[in-house]
Amino acid sequence: MRQHVNPLSRNFNETESIPSLTEIFGDPKLNLHLDIGCAAGEFLFDLALLNTSWNYFGIEIREKLVKTAKIKVREREIKNLYFVFGNAHNILNDAKNNFIFKNVKSISLYFPDPWFKKRHYKRRIIQPEFINILSNSLQKGSLIFIKTDVKDLFDHMDSTISSNFNFKTIDKKDFKYSESFNPNKVKTNREKYVMVNELNIFEKVYIKI
Ligand SMILES: C[S@@+](CC[C@H](N)C(=O)[O-])C[C@H]1O[C@@H](n2cnc3c(N)ncnc32)[C@H](O)[C@@H]1O
Repeated sequence: MRQHVNPLSRNFNETESIPSLTEIFGDPKLNLHLDIGCAAGEFLFDLALLNTSWNYFGIEIREKLVKTAKIKVREREIKNLYFVFGNAHNILNDAKNNFIFKNVKSISLYFPDPWFKKRHYKRRIIQPEFINILSNSLQKGSLIFIKTDVKDLFDHMDSTISSNFNFKTIDKKDFKYSESFNPNKVKTNREKYVMVNELNIFEKVYIKI
């Protein structure tokens, strides 16, 4: 399986069509959390099974992972979880998908691909234009969670989000995990690896104002 795909490839210009929230979820009115770059979706499976009072929506650019995740959702009859294949930028920028944002309360971008070479920085998911899309689409009070073990990437993400005047940082001590999309502090696969290897984790939460 390919580990990295170029999100700027024209292969991702066309996006999968997404059914209405009523068709996707058992209860479409629940708070919705988006996980961007969800890989095989294990994090979201754990969350969806633990917290049935939230809906979860994963976006991933590696098609095979999404196909397998969709089959698992169907086989296990999970009603609060949905996966979409494609470049998150193109999916969320597509006017026909605006309806997703109606119930979105939070978004996670956990351990996104760092693209270490300078000439590849433009492939990083967090770019000013992407943050503009979120800023124009998210309701006030919605949260963006970021985490990474790469300090340079963290600085890039933090300065990009902080440069948008519609987002401000939330102090960790003022943040109630129990009311969030992840009350049990479930870890992603990358986070588990980082913890086992005792690497640093850089994280922040932003609120749309
Ligand atoms: C390093 S992995 C982290 C996976 C997971 N979030 C974790 O913490 O274990 C980053 C994931 O983001 C996906 N990805 C990268 N760029 C993307 C994009 N533009 N849209 C959607 N997914 C993307 C990659 O294919 C990969 O599965």
